Amino acid sequence: MAQNDKDKVNPLWGGRFVNAADDIMQRINASIDVDRHMANQDITSSLAHVQMLGACGIIEVGEAEQISQGLIKIQAEIEAGEFEFTPEREDIHMHVEARLHVLIGPVAGKLHTARSRNDQVVTDFRLWLREALTQRVQQIRELQRALVRRAEEYKDAILPGLTHLQTAQPVTFGHHLLAFVEMLERDAGRLSDANTRLNECPLGAAALAGTAFPIDREQTAKALGFERPMANSLDAVSSRDFALEALSASVICAVHLSRLADEMVYWTSTGIGFGVFSDRFSTGSSIMPQKRNPDAAELVRAKTGRISGAFQSLVLVLKGLPLAYSKDMQEDKEPVFDTMYTLDLCLTVMTGLVGDIKMDREKMAIAAGGGFSTATDLADWLVREAGKTFREAHHIAGSLVAMAETLGIGLEQLELKQMQSIAPEIRAEIFDVLSSQNSANSRTSYGGTAPSQVQIQIDKWKTRL
Ligand code: ARG
Repeated sequence: MAQNDKDKVNPLWGGRFVNAADDIMQRINASIDVDRHMANQDITSSLAHVQMLGACGIIEVGEAEQISQGLIKIQAEIEAGEFEFTPEREDIHMHVEARLHVLIGPVAGKLHTARSRNDQVVTDFRLWLREALTQRVQQIRELQRALVRRAEEYKDAILPGLTHLQTAQPVTFGHHLLAFVEMLERDAGRLSDANTRLNECPLGAAALAGTAFPIDREQTAKALGFERPMANSLDAVSSRDFALEALSASVICAVHLSRLADEMVYWTSTGIGFGVFSDRFSTGSSIMPQKRNPDAAELVRAKTGRISGAFQSLVLVLKGLPLAYSKDMQEDKEPVFDTMYTLDLCLTVMTGLVGDIKMDREKMAIAAGGGFSTATDLADWLVREAGKTFREAHHIAGSLVAMAETLGIGLEQLELKQMQSIAPEIRAEIFDVLSSQNSANSRTSYGGTAPSQVQIQIDKWKTRL
């Protein structure tokens, strides 16, 4: 960039400056590639602001009208893709104002009365995030519905319930899926909470101290759908905890999605083979013709890293920042935008995966019977029917597992006599509790895995969702 070039000085602060900014200064300073995504919100907040300026007599009503018309025209240009973005005009606020000057002349200069980019940017940002969060919550609802549908389909299909990835006790697949419905419910709650708390209006805080113009902050807050104007102008321009909160709720949601994704990778793995994705959600290999890879689930699993990184990034941007605005805060939007787009993608993909996966009941049931999965049922029987303490019963059941393991058979394949050699109290009825289906069916405690309990939860979700 040529130096001593008064024409190229930014017109917004040209009074104080003689020389234009260096090219590299422009490059580090510009945020337009990111904040152009809130063009709509920028126009919306400017419209609310200018209407208020007119209503309060700070500018003429006719001028407010002229500015509003100009803004609406710019909005149409942006929507039609006819608007020109250039790094020379730093950010979306400058772009809109510069275009307004071209369209309506010097009266455009009145739009920025009683406001600063500091309150403007964070107003736009809150509007953007409010909409994004609302959409993410709706997508979580969609995913929950898909899970509930599959849970009903498989409410009595059993598979091995695992702890430490070792066979623990048989569970129903419906129950397993509903666990994720519960997690997602809390995610939706956290994202909605974040939305409730962010819904206060910073506009009118101006640069940091408020303004001497007789503005009406209630009016702009109301026009933009906020609950109230923020009560402290320094807080209004400096705080980004609303964004941090949205990101932290998003990380938790992403963690949940990654866990479900990981289960899917496991179910569809060659050695396990409980489920299979259709061609719609599988990829092949460029070298191994037999492959059917669960790339979509793996990518959902991986995207957690990116969302968690976004949270980390914003925490570190904000840490130790003095009041009020510092340019550091311009780095706030990219992680939030990226997170909201990523979460959008992951939720949509996961809804597709949940709907697509086909489970193999028979394979799951066979696996559910393996690994001595009913050893706890055996111990419970000894407590109920033979008057043993649970510790004694646990010991006996452990010995029977060891015996069966040595013989290379399942618990239910032991002969009654063999069992009685360890615990003479054992009777033939014990075989009932050694069936894995019976084991799952018997767990009827509230929130348990029995199909009867699962159906109660499914009914609850169907009314709620
Ligand atoms: N592009 C800026 C941002 O995103 C707008 C606010 C600029 N304010 C300032 N005092 N330089 O934060």
